[in-house]
Amino acid sequence: MIEFNPYDKAFANDPYPVYKRLRDEAPVYQCAPLNFYAISRYADVLEAHRDFKTFSSAGGVTIEGLDAMVPLLIVKDPPEHLWNKALITKVFTPNRMGSLEPFIRNLVISLLDKAAAKQEFDFVQEFALQVPLQVISELIGIPEELREEIHRLTNKLLDREDGSGLAELAATMAASHEIYLGLVRDRRERPRNDPITYLIESEVKDDEGVVRRLTDDEMAFRFGELAAAGHETVAKAIPNGVMAFQRFPGERTKLIENPGLLPGAVEEILRFDPPSQLQGRTTTRDVTLHGVTIPAGSKTMLLTGAAMRDERKFENPDIFNISREAPIDSTYFGFGIHRCLGIHLARLELRIAFGELLKRFPNFEVDSSRATRSVLSNVRGVRTLPARLGAQA
Ligand code: HEM
Repeated sequence: MIEFNPYDKAFANDPYPVYKRLRDEAPVYQCAPLNFYAISRYADVLEAHRDFKTFSSAGGVTIEGLDAMVPLLIVKDPPEHLWNKALITKVFTPNRMGSLEPFIRNLVISLLDKAAAKQEFDFVQEFALQVPLQVISELIGIPEELREEIHRLTNKLLDREDGSGLAELAATMAASHEIYLGLVRDRRERPRNDPITYLIESEVKDDEGVVRRLTDDEMAFRFGELAAAGHETVAKAIPNGVMAFQRFPGERTKLIENPGLLPGAVEEILRFDPPSQLQGRTTTRDVTLHGVTIPAGSKTMLLTGAAMRDERKFENPDIFNISREAPIDSTYFGFGIHRCLGIHLARLELRIAFGELLKRFPNFEVDSSRATRSVLSNVRGVRTLPARLGAQA
C-alpha cells in the first residue's frame, strides 16, 4: 500500500515517484494520521479547482491550515472573495506589473554582476530570493528605508526550517503587519501617487450592489499576503528551473540557441517542478470519486505537483522539454476563482532571470548534491544551492 507523508525527507527530495503511485493506485488517497485526503490526477485536480462551491478555501489552503486564521484573500470563498479580489486587481493590474520590467532587468543584471565576481555563491540567498523580495517592495511602493526590515521579516516568516515556534511566528507576523499598517495610516494622512494610496481610494460594488472598501487592517493583510505569495514562489521557481536545466543540458543548449523559446521554457519549469505543490481545500458535501467517498468537512489536498506529471495528460511527463506546448488549463498558478493574482509579474521575473542568466552565463553550474531543502507541506524548493556562473559569454 502506498504511503504519502508530505513531511518525509525522502519524499521532499523527490516526490515524483510517490505521486505516480498515488495517481495509479490511490487517486483519492486518505492520510489518516494527518487527517486529510489527496487528489492526484490532473483531471480531478482541475475539476476540484473549478468546483469552488464543493471545495472551499475557507478552512485554509495548506495541510496545517494555520493560514485560515488570517483574513487572507486566498482563504476567502464567494461572495466575499469576488469583491475582495476585484478591489486588489484594480490596483495591481498587469500594466502596473509590466511597468516594472526595467527595474527587474537592472536588478537581475546587478545581482548577476555581484555573483560573477565570486568563485562560488549561493544561488538562492544571493539571487533567487533577492529578485522577488525587491520586486514586490517596488510593486507595493515600500519606501527604501523600510525595505530591509520588511525583507528580514518576510524571510523569517517563510523560512520555517529554523524551528521557530508558533509564538515566534505570530510575533514576526505582527511586526510585519504593523509596518504595513503604519504605511496605510501614513498615506491616509498624506496621500501620494502610489499603489498604497490607490488601494485606500479604491472601491467596488459587491454582487448585491453594496459599495465595498478595505479597512486599514485589511489593506495591511493584503500587502503582507502579496509580499509572502510573491516572494516564496518565485524564489523557489528560479532554483527549480536551474536544477532542471542542469539535469537536462540539451534543453539548456536549445534555449541558448533559440531565445524565442523562453516563454515556453518558463511554463515548462513551472510544470516540471511546481513551487506550489498542493492547494488545500475543505469539502462542503460528500464527494465520491474513483469509488472513494470524501465526507463533507474533510481537508482535501489538490496535488498540483502530481497533476503536472500525469501521463494521462502529458506525454513523457518526467522529461523536461521546453518546446512542450503549455496547456491553458494547467494548475501551477491555480485555476478558476483563486487563480494567481501575480501571474503576469511571476512570468516577467522568471523570463528576465532566465533570459539574462543564459545569455550572459550559458555555462553556469549548480551543485544540487550540496543543496539544502526546506521540508514544507505546500511549497517545494531549495533553501541554499551552491553555484558558479563561469565565464561570461
Ligand atoms: C512562480 C510564481 C508563482 C506561483 C507558482 C504561484 C502560484 C499560485 C497558486 C497555485 C495560487 C492558487 C492557490 C489556491 O488556489 O489555493 C496562487 C494564488 C495567489 N497568488 Fe500566486 N504564484 C506565484 C507568484 C505570485 C506573485 C508574484 C504574487 C504577487 C504579486 C502572487 C500572489 C498571489 C495571490 C494574492 C493569490 C491569491 C489569489 C486568490 O485567492 O484569488 N503570486 N498563486
